[in-house]
Amino acid sequence: MKLLSGKPGWTVNADVIVIGSGVAGLTTALNLRASNLSVLLVTKAKIDEGSTKWAQGGIAAALGPGDTPGQHKKDTLIAGAGLCDAEAVDVLVTEGPEAVRKLISRGAVFDKSDTGEIALTREGGHLRNRILHAGGDATGAEVSRALLAAVQGDAGIEVIENALAIDVLQTATGSVCGVTVHVIGAGSRDGVGRALARAVVIATGGLGQVYAQTTNPSVSTGDGVALALRAGAEIADVEFIQFHPTVLWRDDSLSGQQPLISEAVRGEGAVLVNDKGIHFMEGKHPQKDLAPRDIVAIEIFKQMKESNSPHVWLDTTGINDFPERFPTIFAFCNDNGIDPRMQMIPVSPAAHYSSGGVKVDLVGRTSVAGLYACGETACTGAHGANRLASNSLLEGLVFGTRIAADIALNIGEQGLPNEQSTGAFLLDPAIKMTLQLAMSQGAGVMRSGDSLRETLATLKQLATHVSSSPCIEAWEVSNLYLLATAIARAALEREESRGSHWRSDFPESSSDWISRIVQSYDGNGKWNSKLMEVH
Ligand code: FAD
Ligand code: SIN
Repeated sequence: MKLLSGKPGWTVNADVIVIGSGVAGLTTALNLRASNLSVLLVTKAKIDEGSTKWAQGGIAAALGPGDTPGQHKKDTLIAGAGLCDAEAVDVLVTEGPEAVRKLISRGAVFDKSDTGEIALTREGGHLRNRILHAGGDATGAEVSRALLAAVQGDAGIEVIENALAIDVLQTATGSVCGVTVHVIGAGSRDGVGRALARAVVIATGGLGQVYAQTTNPSVSTGDGVALALRAGAEIADVEFIQFHPTVLWRDDSLSGQQPLISEAVRGEGAVLVNDKGIHFMEGKHPQKDLAPRDIVAIEIFKQMKESNSPHVWLDTTGINDFPERFPTIFAFCNDNGIDPRMQMIPVSPAAHYSSGGVKVDLVGRTSVAGLYACGETACTGAHGANRLASNSLLEGLVFGTRIAADIALNIGEQGLPNEQSTGAFLLDPAIKMTLQLAMSQGAGVMRSGDSLRETLATLKQLATHVSSSPCIEAWEVSNLYLLATAIARAALEREESRGSHWRSDFPESSSDWISRIVQSYDGNGKWNSKLMEVH
């Protein structure tokens, strides 16, 4: 099954195609160059679009005095609520410090303490200060800046902006040998074309736009996960959507990307209070406001329900140097009429991160030959049921390096795309808002069997709204539909509460569910689901 699109009108070749220009795609591309492979990097919008540049809190790595990868591992496993792949976590935490040093050598500049050491802060779930940050709360912008400068200085990496990858091309035996891409360009590369390569790396980021309110930018429509599914790849853990506890609340009617108030603000002393002024995380968890994110998000949800209020409050008035420490957050609070030095900030949870994605091994290989996945698109298993704060940028750095090394070792010959046409589908972009609302209402912070069945029924009905006019909005909404279905299916199947998956009808974790849900989608549009043991 593919997305309906026009016939390719042009062709381009490279050794490796990287789809996406966030931390994962850029790191992979740069490391591929060490093996002299030519890289074509296609990216859907402008090169710096994506979640990476929005990252605030920082990057977690055991670099501080007395900290060890072992302690980082322990915190990651606890946050992951029993579903982390221990080997993937080992890789992340042990190779993390070196990956961060490499990023620094590529030009990224992190904030320093008064003594000239790298300043480290704390976020939810970490028992130590181990978060490096840049520009106070503009870590992602600095990471993006440094990696982009390195990529743009490398003549072996060709970048095509405004280039949306639609589907992969596969040989008669199913190996991936390229992608179809739609470019809004000029000259010979305009409209739909074919990019041929010996390996393809999907690094298309998250899928927050499946929900009505998210911290993710508009490009985060999960295209890579949907594209991998259509190619026959397995996906895992997609029911574990992380809702960030503290997103600036402005109005329930607002949809799309909403401003984040970093967890690092709580790391520097801010506390959550309810309408009655009660510090409600007190007594709920030993780490109180800095408990793992899933625990704080669900507690906020409960407080909002109890008081019938659309938000709780983040009391930041004790942070004296707020404008200097959090300049980005200070600026957008001011834009919204709030001075965090004197006023509390209204906050509520919103979709933030997909802990699941395309199932990959320790070198980023998917279940389809020649197809790799990296970053938020991928599911290495390192995050389990709930990602530990600031482990995502780190994952892009570590696994981008590993993928490049594996490709360099194992890259095959260029395959020929199978020209036989398979079934194609496309949905009407007009269904987008209904889809997002159905997901927020039925598959949000708190789900139940009834709410999920209702969401799936709405999705089934939306699938009848087909379109015969290929365009960016139609490709994106068709991808959103596929992912929404995968999330709701897995969330219905998992009859327990664990990590960021909360079921009101199954409020406890169950020892029967210490396994991962792996889904795939066959050429006839049929879903398959299996359980996989956790290692
Ligand atoms: P992205 O950075 O999202 O990049 C994806 C790329 O793929 C983009 O270039 C996009 O345009 C492109 N793309 C998408 N679809 C297509 C397509 N079909 N064809 C071609 N290109 C495509 N994590 C941390 O570790 N620390 C933090 O402090 C932190 N703060 C965050 C704050 C915010 C507001 C948000 C939204 C996320 C934050 N995260 C943080 C999470 C982290 O930023 C992301 O998980 C990470 O940046 C993802 O990197 P990526 O390279 O996988 O994807
Ligand atoms: C934040 O700054 O709170 C976001 C950190 C993350 O998502 O890892």
